[in-house]
Amino acid sequence: MSKFFLRAAVAVVISVGASWASAQSSYPIKVGLMLPSSGTFANLGKDVMDGFKLYVTEQGGKLGGRPVEYIALDDESDPSKANENANKLVKRDKVDVLIGTIHSGVAATMAKVARETNTLMIVPNAGAGEITGSMCAPNVFRSSFSNWQPGYAAGLLAAKKHKTAVTISWKYAAGNESVKGFREGFEKGGGKVLTDLNLPFPGVEFQPLLAQLATIKPEAAYVFVAGAAQVKFVKDYAAAGLKTSIPLYGAFITEGTLAAQGDAAAGLLTTLHYADGLKNPKNDKFMAAYTKAYGAAPNVFGVQGYDAAQMYDVGLKAVKGDTKKKAEIYKAIEISKIDSPRGPLTFSKSHNPIQDFYVRVARGNQNVMTDTIVKGLVDPSPDCKL
Ligand code: BEZ
Repeated sequence: MSKFFLRAAVAVVISVGASWASAQSSYPIKVGLMLPSSGTFANLGKDVMDGFKLYVTEQGGKLGGRPVEYIALDDESDPSKANENANKLVKRDKVDVLIGTIHSGVAATMAKVARETNTLMIVPNAGAGEITGSMCAPNVFRSSFSNWQPGYAAGLLAAKKHKTAVTISWKYAAGNESVKGFREGFEKGGGKVLTDLNLPFPGVEFQPLLAQLATIKPEAAYVFVAGAAQVKFVKDYAAAGLKTSIPLYGAFITEGTLAAQGDAAAGLLTTLHYADGLKNPKNDKFMAAYTKAYGAAPNVFGVQGYDAAQMYDVGLKAVKGDTKKKAEIYKAIEISKIDSPRGPLTFSKSHNPIQDFYVRVARGNQNVMTDTIVKGLVDPSPDCKL
């Protein structure tokens, strides 16, 4: 081949490559949002979605320099539909990333689909231990917490004042793991959990459990129920006259629902990785932007959604939006340090957040931070072999 033809051929290859790259960068990233928009966790799903979309809007509607197309699906917090729903997003809609969900059982099934298909998944709430434990995978991350984390923090807090406690929870992964975390923290602080009372998810027949609690008379109680049901729980607890006799601790029990819970929630102590009005420059900006966009102050679920989008953006920017470079995307997220409204956010080897847990007291419509109960809490994840 003459020098002329060789140069011409190289020029064609370069220009085809360049136009492929520019075509690829104007082609939208497909974001699969598998969240509940019905049932007891509907509000939590909306808050996560709002947080995610706020971050994307702040980036001019782009992630990793590419426009974003959302494909949203109501998972109904129903584990029996999770496999079909996740497969619809991955195989039919060919999403680039799975974002979801709230319910631990649904998220665990999503994670199986994500693993089998090597699809990036970022969990913006569900705390199921196995997702970053025995089932951990290079392509699965969490922007939220493991169920053990907030429960453990609450146990440490309750043990500062009480020697005995009873736990109340929904009988599914999140409830079981949350009370396990509480028990561990409470026992570490010298306390003893007398018994675990539970009811099926998403039941709200709390009266028989509260009657048992009153009979057992522990020094304190810890509860894990969430979403719309937590409004009823807190009101039932106060109406049963237990609020003053058996101090109640929780993690999520007042999150996003204080207006509906009213006086029944006043003074309740909770432990989470976010608090209303947390003081740091990122949160100042986030609170202002979120409130402007949605007309309400953000809560922990909005933060987790916002950070899921930040995490994906970090991964995509590392490969200039080239979604085929999967391993590089995963590595970039794994080693990232996210400037989160909750404070700096990094990830453990199992891809679970390493984060501070705050003590919050319910005052009016706010869960106000009073202290940090544990700094840089890492989920031990002994079963994760990454
Ligand atoms: C869960 O199922 O993991 C969960 C649901 C709501 C709040 C916290 C955890």
